Amino acid sequence: MRVLFATSEVAPLIKTGGLADVSAALPAALHSMGVDVRVLLPGYPQVLKALPSPQTAADFPALPGFPPARLLSGALPDGVPLWVVECPELYQRGGGAYQDEHGGDWPDNAQRFGLLSKIAAVLGSTDSPLEWKPDVVHCNDWQTGLAPAYLHFAPGAAPCVMAVHNLAFQGIFPPQTAAELGLPAECFQPDGVEFHGKLSFLKAGLYYADHITTVSPSYAEEIQTDVLGFGMQGLLAHRRKVLNGILNGIDTEDWNPAADPNLVQAYDATDLSGKSANKRELQKRMGLHVDPKVPLFGLVSRFTRQKGLDLVLKITPQLVALPAQLVLLGSGDAGMQRTALGLSHRYSGQVGAYVGFDEGLSHLIEAGADIFLMPSRFEPCGLNQMYSQRYGTPPVVHATGGLIDTVVDCSAASLKRGDATGFVFDSMGASSLLSAARRAVVAYRNKKTWRTLQRNGMARDFSWDKSAAAYRDIYARLMQ
Ligand code: ADP
Ligand code: GLC
Repeated sequence: MRVLFATSEVAPLIKTGGLADVSAALPAALHSMGVDVRVLLPGYPQVLKALPSPQTAADFPALPGFPPARLLSGALPDGVPLWVVECPELYQRGGGAYQDEHGGDWPDNAQRFGLLSKIAAVLGSTDSPLEWKPDVVHCNDWQTGLAPAYLHFAPGAAPCVMAVHNLAFQGIFPPQTAAELGLPAECFQPDGVEFHGKLSFLKAGLYYADHITTVSPSYAEEIQTDVLGFGMQGLLAHRRKVLNGILNGIDTEDWNPAADPNLVQAYDATDLSGKSANKRELQKRMGLHVDPKVPLFGLVSRFTRQKGLDLVLKITPQLVALPAQLVLLGSGDAGMQRTALGLSHRYSGQVGAYVGFDEGLSHLIEAGADIFLMPSRFEPCGLNQMYSQRYGTPPVVHATGGLIDTVVDCSAASLKRGDATGFVFDSMGASSLLSAARRAVVAYRNKKTWRTLQRNGMARDFSWDKSAAAYRDIYARLMQ
C-alpha cells in the first residue's frame, strides 16, 4: 500500500501546532506497519537545511499558474521518506510557515499552498513524472485542500482523504485566485470550490475528497452543527457517510517522562518522586517561588480565543489567591501576550510567562506542573491534554471535541470505576473554569486521590497503534 501524505508542517523540521506532531507520528506509525508512506512538504529554509544531501526526483518547470519548482527527495529523522517541493520564489524567506515576522499572513499563501496541493495531485495522477505512484493521497487541512480538486480533474487519479485538523482555518482567497491557480472554471460554484463568492481551499478538499476524516469522534459530530461547523456544516452533514473521526495518538517516545532529555529527573508511574525535581526546576526557570507544596498550574498553547486563553488570563488573580502558581508558555494574539507578561510582573513569584515557542520548556511544563490547563472553546483533538496525562499532570479541560474523548472527569463514580484522569467542565466561561480549577486543587491536596488520578492518566494508551490501523483500513477501502 502506497500513501502520499501531503502536509504543511512536520515536527521537528517545522512546527506551529499539533499538525506537525501528527504529520511526524502518523506516517511513522504507518511506516512501521509496512505501509509505503511518503511525506510531501514545502521547501521552507528550515526543511531544506535538514536535508543533508537531497536528490532531485523531478522538475516542474511550467505548472500552469506557478513558478518553476523541483521535487527533492530525502528522509525524515525517523527514516520515513520525504519529498520536498523546492521553489525559492515561494518558500525561501524568513518568518514562519504561514506568516511573516510580524504575524501577518504571507500575501502569496494561495500560491504557496496551491503549489503544494498541485504537486500532490500531479504525483497522485498518471501525469506524475515518478515511477512511484500512490494508491491514496492523504491531505491535511486547508493548505492541501486544493489537491482533491486538482485530482478530480486529473487523469488516472488516486483516491484521496481530506483530514480536517481544524475547521476554523479555511484558506479563503479572492474568486479570481481559482483560475490563477489553474482550476477549471466549472469548479467555481457552490457544488465545488466556491464559498460565499470566494475560493475556499478547505471547502475544495471537503467537496472533492473521496473520504473525510477528522481528529476525534466528538469533533466529527460537532462540525456537522451550526455552532462548530464554521459554515461547512451543511456540506459535512451531506457527506457524513464518508466522514469519520479518528482520535489522534501521541508519539510515546518523544513524550515519555521516563526518558525525556528535557527533564531534570526521569520518572514513571511506579515511582513519581522524580516529578518534584522537575517542579523545582520549572519554578526556578520561570522565576517562581520554589515551593514544593503550592499547586502549580501549567499551560502550553497558541494564544487565541480558541484555546480559552482569555479566560485563563481573566481568572489568574483568583488562581493566585487559592493559593496557586501558574506558568504560561505560548504566543499568538498580541494583546494576550501583553496581558500574560503583565500578570507575570504583577504576580511576580507566582505567575511565570514565556512568550515564544520553546519545545524543551513545553516538555518541562508537562512534567513540572501539577495541573494542566486546557479550557479550549473548541478542540478538534488536542495533544497537550494527552501529554499531560502521560506525565502525571491531570488536565482541567472544557467538554468539547477531542478533550471529551480523552479526559475522564474526576467524580466519586469515576474514581470508583478507576478511570478518572482529570477535570472536565461543561459550560464555557470563567466561573466554570475557576470552579473546575478549584476542584483540581482540592483533589491535589488529597494525596491518595491525586496519586490515583495521576496513575490512571499515566496508564492510558494514547499510542498511535489503533488510530494508524484505522487510517490504513480507510486507505484499503478506498483502493477497492
Ligand atoms: P493546536 O494544534 O491547535 O495548536 P494541539 O494541542 O494539537 O493544538 O498541539 C499543539 C502542539 O504545539 C503541542 O505539541 C504543543 O506542545 C505545541 N506548542 C504550542 N505552543 C507551543 C509553544 N509556545 N512552545 C512549544 N510548543 C508549543
Ligand atoms: C489542530 C487542532 C488540534 C489538533 C491538531 C492535530 O491544530 O487545533 O486540536 O490536535 O490539529 O490534529
